[in-house]
Amino acid sequence: MQVFTRIGPLREFLNNQRIAGKTIGLVPTMGALHEGHVSLFRRARRDTQVVVGSIFVNPIQFNNPEDLTKYPKTPEKDLEMMKSAGCDVVFMPEIQEVYPEKPTLAMDFGPLEVVMEAKFRPGHFNGVAIVVSKLLHYVQPDHAYFGQKDLQQFMVIRKLVKDLSFQVRLHCCPVIREANGLAMSSRNQRLTQEGRAKASVLFAALTAAREIIIAGRPSETAIDKAKGMISSVPGVELEYFELADAENLQPAEDVQLDRNAALCVAAHVEGVRLIDNVLIFS
Ligand code: PAJ
Repeated sequence: MQVFTRIGPLREFLNNQRIAGKTIGLVPTMGALHEGHVSLFRRARRDTQVVVGSIFVNPIQFNNPEDLTKYPKTPEKDLEMMKSAGCDVVFMPEIQEVYPEKPTLAMDFGPLEVVMEAKFRPGHFNGVAIVVSKLLHYVQPDHAYFGQKDLQQFMVIRKLVKDLSFQVRLHCCPVIREANGLAMSSRNQRLTQEGRAKASVLFAALTAAREIIIAGRPSETAIDKAKGMISSVPGVELEYFELADAENLQPAEDVQLDRNAALCVAAHVEGVRLIDNVLIFS
């Protein structure tokens, strides 16, 4: 596995791979890897000949400075995990390499900007879109892999790729969970055992709501049930619990049989912000 910290040598190495006719897969990450990330590397390994992983804690996507300073960093373990998941190339730049100057570019993702994560984390997706654009330029992958865990992020990136004509095929990979259902996340490392147990109510509530909707009962009943489950666990502070159209994430009143919908949740546990979602029809 080759590790690059500079853009120039990374580009040169990958150009040679392209000339040799190899297909390239990219898995962007912010490090502190877990099995969720590993699943993306395994998928990229199956599909492509050169698997590139990036580790970069992107400062411009953090709207909360404390979240940035407390973001877990485990570089040695990350490299081990990437290697055993079949990653060929790691790009782990310093901040200066990616941002010689602070970008002022402002993108607008239309309806995706006014719901859920965008509403609660102003500027977040602009920061994500800038860094993902940069990574797509550096690596020029044929395929890029993202997790359904961050469903709105995936949709923002899909719009970015369409609007700017990036030549890459995007893949949205399933959410990998702990045994208790908690969606794996780098931020889970900041939770105590008790916090992790409490946080498992989020997936339990998503699953219960999904079952109610699938049984054909009103979505309001499902959402009330889920909110009740969450509020019964002390220390879990709900930010939102919403039913949204799975194609554009706009609020959905009810589920139509010909249109998939997603239940999405965000909550704080022990000062850590957690998100999760399930699709109604998977
Ligand atoms: P990060 O949170 O490190 O996540 C990297 C990728 O792993 C994302 O595509 C995310 O959706 C996926 N992922 C996280 N947890 C997962 C889980 N439990 N199951 C499956 N996939 C999971 O998302 C980011 O970094 C950044 O915003 C980034 C795209 C790298 C831009 O900075």
